[in-house]
Amino acid sequence: MTTFLIGFMGSGKSTIARQMSADFIDMDAMIVERIGMPIAAFFETQGEAAFRQIEKSVLSELVVSDKVVSTGGGIVISPVNRQILKDAVAKVIYLKSDFDSLYNRISSDTDNVRPIFVNSSRQALEAIFNTRQPLYEEVASQIIDVTDKTPSQIVQEVKEFQ
Ligand code: S3P
Repeated sequence: MTTFLIGFMGSGKSTIARQMSADFIDMDAMIVERIGMPIAAFFETQGEAAFRQIEKSVLSELVVSDKVVSTGGGIVISPVNRQILKDAVAKVIYLKSDFDSLYNRISSDTDNVRPIFVNSSRQALEAIFNTRQPLYEEVASQIIDVTDKTPSQIVQEVKEFQ
């Protein structure tokens, strides 16, 4: 069965997926491979809507992957994506945290430049977080509070749900 890790930017989806399984799939990395440029560059040249289209088709492909999949933080914006996640024979695990902790993590992650972060004020980003929060909960089959937990503690909890 596929396990999708969902949650806001900075919640540790990729880190946890990597530790869960050697052949995990990072959706953003898969998209980068497909578009042939960093996500930030794609947002700039093609726009967010074009990114969301690709994200949707990659998500549909991954439902039957049988792998641990880390998703992008915006996966739940689309009602179609939410339906895909709800209908999927899959575990959908929401790595939940509070905005301040996530903001600190995103701000210090200089290796991964996220266009949504770069182009938004802290206040605007918090508004996005508040809009998305109920959407993650809507599609999640399990919710794990990851605040102040180590990756190995989180991996342990995710495995209990698998
Ligand atoms: C996005 C989150 C990013 C990436 C893109 C858009 C978002 O993924 O998909 O920059 O809208 O929240 P991460 O959650 O892995 O940072």
